[in-house]
Amino acid sequence: MLNFEIQKMKKIITLSIALNVVSLMIIAQPLIPNVQLNNGVLMPILGFGTLDLKDNIGVNSVANAISLGYRLIDTATIYGNEEAVGDGIKQSGIDRHELFITTKLWVDDMGYNSAKLAFERSCKKLRTDYIDLYLIHRPRGDIKGSWKAMEELYRAGRIKAIGVSNFDSIQLAELIAVAEIKPMVNQIEINPFFQENILQKISENHGIQVEAWSPFAQGRNGLFTNEILSGIGKQYRKTAAQVTLRWIIQRGIVTIPRTSELKYMQENLDVFDFQLSKDDMQKINALDLGTSQFPEWN
Ligand SMILES: NC(=O)c1ccc[n+]([C@@H]2O[C@H](COP(=O)([O-])OP(=O)(O)OC[C@H]3O[C@@H](n4cnc5c(N)ncnc54)[C@H](OP(=O)(O)O)[C@@H]3O)[C@@H](O)[C@H]2O)c1
Repeated sequence: MLNFEIQKMKKIITLSIALNVVSLMIIAQPLIPNVQLNNGVLMPILGFGTLDLKDNIGVNSVANAISLGYRLIDTATIYGNEEAVGDGIKQSGIDRHELFITTKLWVDDMGYNSAKLAFERSCKKLRTDYIDLYLIHRPRGDIKGSWKAMEELYRAGRIKAIGVSNFDSIQLAELIAVAEIKPMVNQIEINPFFQENILQKISENHGIQVEAWSPFAQGRNGLFTNEILSGIGKQYRKTAAQVTLRWIIQRGIVTIPRTSELKYMQENLDVFDFQLSKDDMQKINALDLGTSQFPEWN
C-alpha cells in the first residue's frame, strides 16, 4: 500500500473510533424527557430518590447516578443526607445548573420563620444557593406561614419551583385558597398497588404536576416478581421494575426510584425505548389495591 493510502486509512480508523466513542457517550447518557411545570420550569420526568442513602453510600450513589445521566436528585431534611447528596454532586463534577435538586421542609420546621431558617440550612448542606424544587414534606403544622415563606423565597429567585408532598385533594384546595402562588408539584405515593388516579386528576385540574414517590413500593407486596408486571415485561425484554416506571411515565407522572446498585440505576434509566400498549396499561391499572403500601407512615 502506498504511504499516503496508509495515512488515509489511519485517519479513517481514528475518525471512526472517535465517532464510536461519541455514539457510546450518547447511548450512555440517556436523554430524559422533561415535563413543564405551571410556571414554565422544566423538570426531568425521571429522577433519583435518596431515602436511606446516607454517608459514603449516599455520596457514591449520588455521584454514580449523575454520571449515568440522572439529573433530578430528590432528598429531604428528614433523610439526614443533604450533606452526603451535596458531596455526591461535588464528586460528580457536574455543573450545578445542569441539575434539578429537590429537598423538603420537615414538619418540625413548619411556620414562617422556621421555614426560612430550614431552607437556608438545607442550601448550606447541599452547597447550593438555590433549590430547584422545595416541597412541604407533609401537611402538618402551620402550612399557611410556611407557604408564605416559600413564596417569598421563590420570588427572590432562591427556589425555582414550590410544591407540596402527601397532600390530599382537600389539603390542596385549602392551600390554594390562601396561596398567592399555586403549588407546582404534589409528590405522593404512587405504585401499581396504590395508583391515586383521582388525586392525579384533581392535582392536574389545579395545574399541579404529580410526582410519584416509592414507585416500587420498596418491593413490598412482591412487586419485583409480580406475574403481571414480569409477564408484560417479557414482551418488551424489560423487567417488572422497568415496566412499573414506564407505566408511571406514560401516565405523565414524574418519578424518583432509589437504589444504591449501579446495575439497578442503569436498568431504571433504560425505560425510554419502549411504549406499553393500552392493553398492558390496563392490566397494570387492574393491580390497584387502593391503599397505601406504607400505612405506618400515615
Ligand atoms: N415525599 C415523601 O413522603 C416520600 C416518601 C418516600 C420516598 N420518597 C422519595 O421517593 C424515593 C423512592 O422511594 P423509596 O426509596 O421509598 O423506594 P422505591 O424507589 O420504591 O424502592 C427502593 C428499593 O427498590 C430497590 N430497587 C431499585 N431499583 C430496582 C430494580 N431495578 N430492580 C430491583 N430492585 C430495585 C432498591 O434496592 P437496593 O436497596 O438494592 O438499591 C430499594 O430497596 C425515595 O428515595 C425518596 O427520595 C418521598
